[in-house]
Amino acid sequence: MILLNPGPVNVSERVRQALLRPDICHRESEFTELLHGIQAKLLKLFVPGAEADYAAVVLTGSGTAAVESAVMSSLPQGKRMLVLNNGVYGERISQMIGLYRLGVSELKYDWTTKPDPERLRLALRQHPEVQAVAMVHHETTTGLINPVKEIADVVDSQNRVFILDAVSALAGESLDIAGPHIYMVAGTSGKCIQGFPGLGFVLIRKGFLEKMRSYPRRSIYLSLTQYVDNQGAGTTPFTPAVQIYYAFDEALNELMEEGVAKRIQRYKKIATLIRDRMAKLGVKPVLTPDKQSNTITAYHLPEGITYQSLHDKLKEQGYVIYAGQGQFESQIFRVANMGVLTEPQIAGFLDAFERICTKA
Ligand SMILES: Cc1ncc(COP(=O)(O)O)c(C=O)c1O
Repeated sequence: MILLNPGPVNVSERVRQALLRPDICHRESEFTELLHGIQAKLLKLFVPGAEADYAAVVLTGSGTAAVESAVMSSLPQGKRMLVLNNGVYGERISQMIGLYRLGVSELKYDWTTKPDPERLRLALRQHPEVQAVAMVHHETTTGLINPVKEIADVVDSQNRVFILDAVSALAGESLDIAGPHIYMVAGTSGKCIQGFPGLGFVLIRKGFLEKMRSYPRRSIYLSLTQYVDNQGAGTTPFTPAVQIYYAFDEALNELMEEGVAKRIQRYKKIATLIRDRMAKLGVKPVLTPDKQSNTITAYHLPEGITYQSLHDKLKEQGYVIYAGQGQFESQIFRVANMGVLTEPQIAGFLDAFERICTKA
């Protein structure tokens, strides 16, 4: 099956084979070696040149676990988080804070609009009780790229903590983490890094990590400082999904060999193939090109075709597309191009799509 959904993704045979490495105990030196290798590779790939300024925490859990661990660990008692919300995943961050009964404020935008840095600057000047700002890098809801650098500069200039959900962006979009002092970045194994789903990770700026130690501990499983302490000693506080770590390690090896910049170019090229052909077919994208990511394109459904029938007919031919969420459910469809996908596979998908649309 060719997966054109934003994770889980198609992985290489090399990554799949890594699942078959020997059974090991996570309290033994073999696991320590594996974990430390993964941490070093994450830092080298995503904070090159600033490896000493960041810690990489890896946990068993999906992307949401990584985001929630960052969010829960970032606030002292009595302070608030401001969430820049322009999609399902921004909304989810607000819900996390609300559920834990911590203070949350939002700057809310419609799902096709980027947050405005100047509005944020004003809000931060007016609200000293806001300690942290959270935003999604790539809003998977529509495939929209948020202005990370501009927002990070405002957050940094106002001496606040910036938390970035880069779950669907890391290795698919360029991102300077260390330059604009982003304090926490959440990622996952099973999207653009091309591993299996099942691991989340958070890159944390070390100066902030020390401050976090004085904040209340709000979760048994998702307390980041506990992971940092255990991982310093080469283990994890809870039983890790060892085989998924093996595959993640291999996916990171592949990414180091390919290079992040080249991977981004590869994704961009595939997205362009999809976009050019869809434009010829008259299928209308939800976002203008200046807002689109390298790995997801959201489209309005062609006249007379429901999402379900389009999905089912494509799936019969071996292609899985993705539905809209929330207010866009049943109005749009999404085509993701993360993972091990070849140009002939994409051409096959586009031919199948064209056949279905011309018969409808
Ligand atoms: C931007 C973003 N954040 C968080 C998540 C949650 O990840 P998971 O479904 O792995 O928990 C996703 C999933 O697609 C996402 O796209």
